Amino acid sequence: MEFITFAIFFSLFAAFFLFFFTSATAGRRINLPLPPGTLGWPYIGETFELYSQNPNVFFTSKVKKYGSIFKTHILGCRCVMISSPAAAKLVLVTQSHLFKPTFPASKERMIGKQAIFFHQDDYHFKLRRLVLRAFTPESIKTIVPDIESVAIDAIQSWENRLINTFEEMKTFTFNVALLSILGKDEVLNREDLKRCYYVLEKGYNSMPINLPGTLFHKSMKARKELAHMIAKILSGRRKMEKEQHNDLLASFMEEKEELSDEQIADNIIGVIFAARDTTASVLTWILKYLAENPAVLQSVTEEQEAIKSGEDSDKVLSWGDTKKMPITSRVIQETLRVASILSFTFREAVQDVEFEGYLIPKGWKVLPLFRNIHHSSDNFPDPEKFDPSRFKVAPKANTFMPFGSGIHSCPGNELAKLEILVLLHHLTTKYRWSVVGPQTGIQYAPFALPQNGLPIKLYLKSLGNDADVVGLLNYIPKYISINIFIEHHQIEVGTYFMSPFDSNVMIEDLSEVSHSQPRRNTNEITNACKRNLSKKWHDVALEHDVQVEFDNEGATDDD
Ligand code: HEM
Repeated sequence: MEFITFAIFFSLFAAFFLFFFTSATAGRRINLPLPPGTLGWPYIGETFELYSQNPNVFFTSKVKKYGSIFKTHILGCRCVMISSPAAAKLVLVTQSHLFKPTFPASKERMIGKQAIFFHQDDYHFKLRRLVLRAFTPESIKTIVPDIESVAIDAIQSWENRLINTFEEMKTFTFNVALLSILGKDEVLNREDLKRCYYVLEKGYNSMPINLPGTLFHKSMKARKELAHMIAKILSGRRKMEKEQHNDLLASFMEEKEELSDEQIADNIIGVIFAARDTTASVLTWILKYLAENPAVLQSVTEEQEAIKSGEDSDKVLSWGDTKKMPITSRVIQETLRVASILSFTFREAVQDVEFEGYLIPKGWKVLPLFRNIHHSSDNFPDPEKFDPSRFKVAPKANTFMPFGSGIHSCPGNELAKLEILVLLHHLTTKYRWSVVGPQTGIQYAPFALPQNGLPIKLYLKSLGNDADVVGLLNYIPKYISINIFIEHHQIEVGTYFMSPFDSNVMIEDLSEVSHSQPRRNTNEITNACKRNLSKKWHDVALEHDVQVEFDNEGATDDD
């Protein structure tokens, strides 16, 4: 009893202290120092240092030098970066009223000023309720079979092709987003909506110069067309009065909510923007990590095969099935942590705020650094290691925020996890894939992505099962890679840069040959492949009695 009294007293005291610590001193000019750190060059600040390298390097060196709160100047804004879980909670949750979301003006104009992200008041609260309603487990469980058929179509279109994983995943996540927003009716409009959205997105990061010929101008035109299409869909829906819809559009259209067509269009474009590249980028990382961790892939495959077993092969996945995937779910969590595709988010101080003994002036940006929190060894031992089993134990409070936290946290997180699980079910049970080309780099566009969007080649498992050794040759712009499989295990990867003018001339050998599972004859075959780059691959195959596939799809004119 005494303990409870003490706990209540302590909580009240802590709440009062927090309130006093931040709110009571907020609003008046405070005579405190700015956080430590440097503002870099005039105008450009430290933007170049941040974006020209792995952001981990920038953030880690700053934290090491200045501690968990420091100032900097990026993208034309004075910023305070914070990297402790407690501080992130304060900014995003407990004192969120002092820190409003903020985006570049060009993004606001393209998505639409009335979209959910840009608001902080009653209007935000209302939109959030409507969005959450459409993405609760109760709502999305009804579309599992439709998501499954989108996933099957997508994967089938990749069979035996060299694909850019990120680009293909974007198509998949776009189609799922449309399904959840507009229901099955979207199929009729899908291609037109896609065409316009793809033009629009090209301008997201452009200079906001609205003159004929500029990227921004083309994007704004596409946006207008998109809003027009959405208005037509809305008027079509209104004529179907009695029909029952369970999608986001239906949620927005409820009469008592009184949203205008313009508000609905801004929010539909906004949700597509929030849903597509994020989920596609996470899927791309998952395929990379699974390819690099055969033991994890094996466990995921076994889990997924168990869901299929005993059922007829035409069985459709149910919501219940997706709840029997703990191993695959941990792979998703660990990927969200390691890849931390949203390294940080932006807020702006709405008034002067005292924060951990420093002044954050009104108008300065405040960036909670998700990536640092996810990569701190205080929160996750051996943080650079990809180890899904760490999620068998729940992470400490406020240390795992891939979907943000507080009033702006991601309302689409259940849908994102669902579509990833469904896609992985079909990928791991029926296919194997090999990554093509060197894969050490990361690109930021603006989400963290494996280099070149992760080129892979995907094969049906049923093909080549009976072959002892299968040598696969992928021919993509400027380099050739050879992957050799023995019983589904990729054991050898070699990448050779080719002359852009003559694909038969090897100009640089970049192979990093790994012999994780040396088996009979493989060295010999690989060496023969290397020696015989100028020979016809079919001859090599014949000579060594292996199956060699030649793929010319990735080649471009300048090869
Ligand atoms: C794995 C994929 C995804 C990740 C990692 C992700 C991450 C996030 C994060 C971190 C935020 C909060 C940003 C902030 O506080 O500033 C957010 C917000 C948001 N997300 Fe997601 N998201 C994903 C998928 C989706 C999907 C599939 C949808 C919709 C179907 C969606 C819709 C939204 C919306 C509408 C917001 C704004 C919420 C608000 O301002 O109240 N997201 N997301």
